[in-house]
Amino acid sequence: MSLTFSRRRFLAGSLALTGTCLAGPAWSNTVRPPLPIPPIADGTDGAPLDLTIRTGQWSFKPGVMTPTIGVNQDYLGPTIRTRRNTDLTLNYHNTLTEGVSVHGHGLHVPGDVDGGPQLEMPPGERWQPTLSIVQPAATCWYHSHTHGKTGTQTYRGLAGMIIIDDDDDVSKELPNRYGHDDLPVIIQDRSFDEAGRLIYSLEDAGEDGWFGDTAVINGALSPIAEVPAGKVRLRILNGANARFYILAFADNRTFHKIASDGGLLEAPVPMTTMEMSPGERCEIIVDMTEDTSAELLTFFEDDIDEEGEGSVSGLVNLLTGPGQASAPASLLLNVDRTLVAHTAPVPERLATIERPDPEEIGKTREFVLEMDHGDGDGAHAGHAGGHGAHAGHAAMTMTINGAVMDMAVINERVERGVWERWRVRSDQGAHPFHVHGCSFLVEQMEGAAVTPDQAGWKDTVVLDDDDWSEFIVRFDHLASEDYPYMYHCHILEHEDQGMMGQFTVTDRTG
Ligand code: C2O
Ligand code: CU
Ligand code: CU
Repeated sequence: MSLTFSRRRFLAGSLALTGTCLAGPAWSNTVRPPLPIPPIADGTDGAPLDLTIRTGQWSFKPGVMTPTIGVNQDYLGPTIRTRRNTDLTLNYHNTLTEGVSVHGHGLHVPGDVDGGPQLEMPPGERWQPTLSIVQPAATCWYHSHTHGKTGTQTYRGLAGMIIIDDDDDVSKELPNRYGHDDLPVIIQDRSFDEAGRLIYSLEDAGEDGWFGDTAVINGALSPIAEVPAGKVRLRILNGANARFYILAFADNRTFHKIASDGGLLEAPVPMTTMEMSPGERCEIIVDMTEDTSAELLTFFEDDIDEEGEGSVSGLVNLLTGPGQASAPASLLLNVDRTLVAHTAPVPERLATIERPDPEEIGKTREFVLEMDHGDGDGAHAGHAGGHGAHAGHAAMTMTINGAVMDMAVINERVERGVWERWRVRSDQGAHPFHVHGCSFLVEQMEGAAVTPDQAGWKDTVVLDDDDWSEFIVRFDHLASEDYPYMYHCHILEHEDQGMMGQFTVTDRTG
């Protein structure tokens, strides 16, 4: 199975959803847990935020305790809140018995405070970076970036959201009351053994990475959130290790995407379905003014390929049908009319994105991501097999431009402040390509012109077989040979298996 086919089929089949209502809430007869809202760690006044990385016990399933990792809590961590043009000081303390590095994904900060694998905290140690936040409002996140262990540590819970605020007028016009009309929505998938422990194995991951069989939202199974009868903003993070998600509301309503990875789009984009790859963030506005509830469905994109093939009945079967192999989840927004509502319209203009003139774009770099099955017949061997054929991939190597990640090798050297064009292609399968230290502007995605919902600032872009994805990017901060930036596939198993490279950003000398 390759994600390639599922993605194309969904995109082609998605028209079938238009204008159709899916069945009523699939979980209506189930008691839903409340949506856990991670507490805010407010860094806006510059005081250091204590972030203790520790083991914990978290109840994903009623009555079952699961050993986890969290930051200041049992699973996941607080939402770090910061503000443009302020300094954010983080005081990490690693109380685990293994080394940890924690990366701020989406932050425009220099390499020495970026939290890449070079910045590993040994057990018991602390790391206290000060980050100058100079970028516009955005939803970012932090997660384990420990060499070879990013997948397992993130899976166990070492991740959290970062919200960057801005003082501009548009930000004030958008719903911004955290936990009230501005909700963090972290989508992940996990598998549990009979004792309730998380099941994870890098070695046993399939060629598309590690898929859990159960979706969780902020660590809860199909939770419910009480929301006001007005505009509600969801800051959605695909925090899964490997899985691509398709999001849609059960009543097929239109919502508005207002922001991508790096901040606000130029204008809201109306949508009914949305694909999210691992690592990506999307902010959407849902209008609950006229409703009593709305159910956000989180479909496994690979299931849509195997069972639904993009049809409405297939999608509904995934949620309600007998014998389904996996459990896609949903988030129920339930209106409480006693809550104060944000009723102002969404601004028609959200941001101005300044693009460089074509002649300002200097160098072009090309990157090809490859999966080699190590069985001698090349990277395409996997196409013939089903799931079972891919168990046990100890021999599989994951490369970018033919090289496996090597902490001792700088793969690219970039000049600060100069626009570049990066062209990225996959030799096999779909991969979310992520770059540290920047936001970029996608110009072409999988061989096609970029769509309006992808036309804002991004730090993760999807590539697929054979077609180039292209973006333009400029790095404004320094990353030295000792503390370089990373570019990599955000399927964490691919990253841990070597689909990653390092680059410096320096000023031209002489
Ligand atoms: Cu979200 Cu290098 O990672
Ligand atoms: Cu990153
Ligand atoms: Cu990949």
